[in-house]
Amino acid sequence: MLFGKKKSVAGLDIGSSSVKMVELDGKVGSLNLVSLGFENLPDDTIIDGQIMELNVVSDVIRNVCTNNKVSADSVVTGVSGHSVIIKNIILPPMSEDELEESIDWHAEEHIPYDLSDVSLDYQITGNNSDSTHVLIAACKRDRIDNVCQAIQLAGKQPAVIDVDTFALQNCYEVNYQPDESQVVTLLNIGASTMNVNIVKGTRSLFTRDITVGGSQFTDVLQRSLGLSFQQAEAVKRGVNHAVDGIEEKSIEPLMNNVTEIVAMEIQKTFDFYRATTEDNQTVVQKILISGGGSKLNGLAQDLSARLELPVEVLDPFRSIKVDTRKFDPDYLSEIMPEMAVAVGLAMRGVS
Ligand SMILES: Nc1ncnc2c1ncn2[C@@H]1O[C@H](COP(=O)(O)OP(=O)(O)OP(=O)(O)O)[C@@H](O)[C@H]1O
Ligand SMILES: [Mg+2]
Repeated sequence: MLFGKKKSVAGLDIGSSSVKMVELDGKVGSLNLVSLGFENLPDDTIIDGQIMELNVVSDVIRNVCTNNKVSADSVVTGVSGHSVIIKNIILPPMSEDELEESIDWHAEEHIPYDLSDVSLDYQITGNNSDSTHVLIAACKRDRIDNVCQAIQLAGKQPAVIDVDTFALQNCYEVNYQPDESQVVTLLNIGASTMNVNIVKGTRSLFTRDITVGGSQFTDVLQRSLGLSFQQAEAVKRGVNHAVDGIEEKSIEPLMNNVTEIVAMEIQKTFDFYRATTEDNQTVVQKILISGGGSKLNGLAQDLSARLELPVEVLDPFRSIKVDTRKFDPDYLSEIMPEMAVAVGLAMRGVS
């Protein structure tokens, strides 16, 4: 658990383009979807992870909760991007008490910020006679305060601040129950950030947040074709005749350029990862893709061809019971990619 205590709560994913909310009940193995919400944020409300318009975001959070009859008073939310530092560190063998006493001292070496400016959490991921493996996560305190303010203004309590990439992993684990030999790359393509988490079974081997996402495609279309944000979004999503006078053939090369950047960043991540692991037990077998950015027409196939790996769409509701009388299956499958992080956050509230 990162930066807080566990409670029964809803998962609230405040993304830079939209707010997603998921409420679950039951336990792992018999989870039910209780409520679900999704609302877009105006362009530029959140820039570089920072909420610029607190009132706008809190109004959207309040609406999402009210319109979808969220009963929980508390929420689990997540952070990602530059202000979050995640490191797997290896220390000499030590007890939990010894680690607790010395964690700040060890963390200082790995966190590029003053420790007084960050919230720090850690988890022992392995312990043997030679070493203690510890996962440390730190987030700039001002980023956490900023998110908490928006939630409190909306009348909810922030119970836990998690990290998006771990919420994604949690969503994968609960839905897919991977066996220990499966090495999978979880890739969540949001509007402004891609979360990459390479996992073996239920262990995270490597994580990286990359500040590239769906909004890059929109930006390029906007700038190159002189469109408004809304027009560029519609063109990107393939809405027929979104803008008169724009030829199909002028769109493709622009999109391809950004796809190439996306693929290159993922490839770079694989190269960093390979530099830290050498054994062939940890070769990535496939990519599970999520996030609204992954819905771009042809992107999954294109990434699969460029990275020479199978790419599948992650189903965040694979092992969750959904009452189809309450939730429209067509709507659910349309917004499924965007809900992965919110589902993972919601699971912190029940599991
Ligand atoms: N059908 C579609 N085709 C192409 N792109 C799409 C489609 N639907 C949504 N997107 C894009 O997905 C992105 C939003 O995805 P998501 O909701 O996962 O991001 P976010 O959580 O708001 O952002 P971040 O996590 O980066 O802060 C936007 O760039 C949006 O244009
Ligand atoms: Mg997101």
